Amino acid sequence: MSDPVKDKDSLKNILVVALGVCFVCAIIVSTAAVQLKPQRIANKALDRNKNILIAAGLYETGVTADAQIDTLFEQFTVKVVDMQEQRYLTADEVAEVNIDPRTYDQRKAAKNPALSMALSDTQDVASISRRARYSVAYLLEQGGQVERIVLPIHGYGLWSTLYGFIALEGDGNTVAGITFYEHAETAGLGGEVDNPAWKALWLGKKIYIDDQVAFEVVKGNVDPTSAKGKYQVDALSGATLTSRGVQNMVSFWMGRDGFGPILKNLKG
Ligand SMILES: Cc1cc2nc3c(=O)[nH]c(=O)nc-3n(C[C@H](O)[C@H](O)[C@H](O)COP(=O)(O)O)c2cc1C
Repeated sequence: MSDPVKDKDSLKNILVVALGVCFVCAIIVSTAAVQLKPQRIANKALDRNKNILIAAGLYETGVTADAQIDTLFEQFTVKVVDMQEQRYLTADEVAEVNIDPRTYDQRKAAKNPALSMALSDTQDVASISRRARYSVAYLLEQGGQVERIVLPIHGYGLWSTLYGFIALEGDGNTVAGITFYEHAETAGLGGEVDNPAWKALWLGKKIYIDDQVAFEVVKGNVDPTSAKGKYQVDALSGATLTSRGVQNMVSFWMGRDGFGPILKNLKG
């Protein structure tokens, strides 16, 4: 018979060792999570800024170094948009509402009822349920004139909410770029929203006819010689539902409950 005091495989020893290992691992994992949090936040901000640059056509994948992102980003004037009053906040108002435009998290704000509004079924074209009261616009200006404006957009595709940026020329009508930095659509189907060839189709397309959103993502091939051609982009093949989500997202964010009125002022 084995001696219970000397038995290494006793239940007590197994429990002590297992709990000890769990405890040590928990300490290591939580310490790493806490210590890496600032790095994680910085990386997220860097990635967001990189995508704003990509949308504005200022970042070339494989050419622009990540070390240049902060310097390139300095070119933007960052404005806080009051989506309810459809105007830019003044610097004093931005301080009053306690927003740092460079770190403001619109997604987090949209989840807070005090900082967002629920959209009615007719308003909620992009299936996002709530819209934050404040958003952010990134302006590239030259001699006091807006040359490009980059705006955050998001909306539901097939499996996920797609988050991205759309850039328009200073006329507030011509697409200068589009990019998505987060989604969970299927790679090779809806995931083709990230395909540079598809995103290139958007360049130079127009959004508005008489202040109404005329832009469409259409199934089949766009006829560039048709009158509608300059308002249309081909849908992704085999991913009609994601394409429709992108279409809805553009309709919402370029429309009157999105940035439509701000862009109208830009055109004016
Ligand atoms: C495993 C799987 C993943 C799919 N992922 C997507 C997707 O990400 N986006 C999408 O629009 N359709 C996706 N589809 C296809 C849709 O179910 C639907 O058939 C398609 O959107 C219709 O597009 P089509 O008319 O161009 O064929 C997926 C289908 C399967 C079976």
